[in-house]
Amino acid sequence: MAATTFYIGLMSGTSLDGVDGVITDFHGAQVAAYLPFPSSLRNELLALQTPGANEIHREALAAHQLAQLYAACVAELLRTSGISAAHVRAIGAHGQTIRHLPAAAYTRQINNPALLAELTKIDVIADFRSRDIAAGGQGAPLVPAFHQSVFGSPSHARVIVNIGGISNISILAADGSVTGFDTGPGNVLMDAWIHQHQGKAYDADGQWAASGKVVDTLLAHLLDEDFFRQAPPKSTGRDLFHLGWLNDRLSGFSAAKPEDVQATLAALTARSIADAIRIYAKDSDAVFVCGGGAHNTYLMQCLSDTLTQTVQSTAALGVSPSHVEALAFAWLAQRFCDRQAGNLPSVTGARGERLLGALYPA
Ligand SMILES: Nc1ncnc2c1ncn2[C@@H]1O[C@H](COP(=O)(O)OP(=O)(O)OP(=O)(O)O)[C@@H](O)[C@H]1O
Ligand SMILES: [Mg+2]
Repeated sequence: MAATTFYIGLMSGTSLDGVDGVITDFHGAQVAAYLPFPSSLRNELLALQTPGANEIHREALAAHQLAQLYAACVAELLRTSGISAAHVRAIGAHGQTIRHLPAAAYTRQINNPALLAELTKIDVIADFRSRDIAAGGQGAPLVPAFHQSVFGSPSHARVIVNIGGISNISILAADGSVTGFDTGPGNVLMDAWIHQHQGKAYDADGQWAASGKVVDTLLAHLLDEDFFRQAPPKSTGRDLFHLGWLNDRLSGFSAAKPEDVQATLAALTARSIADAIRIYAKDSDAVFVCGGGAHNTYLMQCLSDTLTQTVQSTAALGVSPSHVEALAFAWLAQRFCDRQAGNLPSVTGARGERLLGALYPA
């Protein structure tokens, strides 16, 4: 790669699978890396999602470990791309969400950006969500502005669906206007269910779900949730959608086979996304999916069966579905460095555009 200005994006989302990193100049040069969480860190990050003892100390230790893994991801990106740290203007580091409660006016992404700056000798931009919440917004989703910049088209109305732990959509009108919101669960419930029954981290290609049958009465019961009825702006997280939420709702369905529940959870993800598109983006021409859920063949088929639009992964638009969210945080770092707003009030509901993030200098 030539000597130019690069940005690094680091994303670790609600799936708690690991760190996605990307280094890019936003002009075609791009290298990605992925480092899975060690199981001890994953378990602690999962435990920190719910109130527990001695949280301040445990959070600090988990944040140290996370920053070290982020630094290892940066080192891997620099090594494989051959780019030196001196050519990287900034790292955009999302951190790990352990609480997302905009109704209580806060969201918490744990991280140790000071340690990350110390280890990498690169400027770090962190804490992207708090300012939007301080301005009355949801602090999420933040990716629609980036989706618009790379996937927006003056001739096509497109919907970008990110299926991570939680799912969010960006509705990109041909006139350039953008709306978007979280639609509900992505992979989080499917991951939790297969982990409980088979000890696996996720249902590879949706094969287990494909072996089951959707239980329509259960699907209707799961869809009977206030969040799905709420009008945007709205955002959610593991605070609402977790294994306990599912188990509560399964109490009257003890006869359902585990694989039928898995098929129903895939249908829940697909239906809640499709309902949102039908209500808020019915005139869109095509739907493009990114995030780990784009690799779930069964889920992609469910989505395609539920919508009239064509459904493809963002690879059809030239960007690997696995790289989109990390690229968004590289882009948000660039916006911060250029002193440009990162949020879209039409998405988050904030009172206005705001500069997102805080700088931890190299
Ligand atoms: N081959 C596959 N088959 C089925 N599911 C997959 C496959 N590959 C990845 N996944 C799913 O994708 C998840 C990881 O997706 P991703 O990293 O986009 O989510 P995330 O970390 O929550 O990100 P974000 O919050 O940014 O959206 C895994 O937990 C798994 O459920
Ligand atoms: Mg992930």
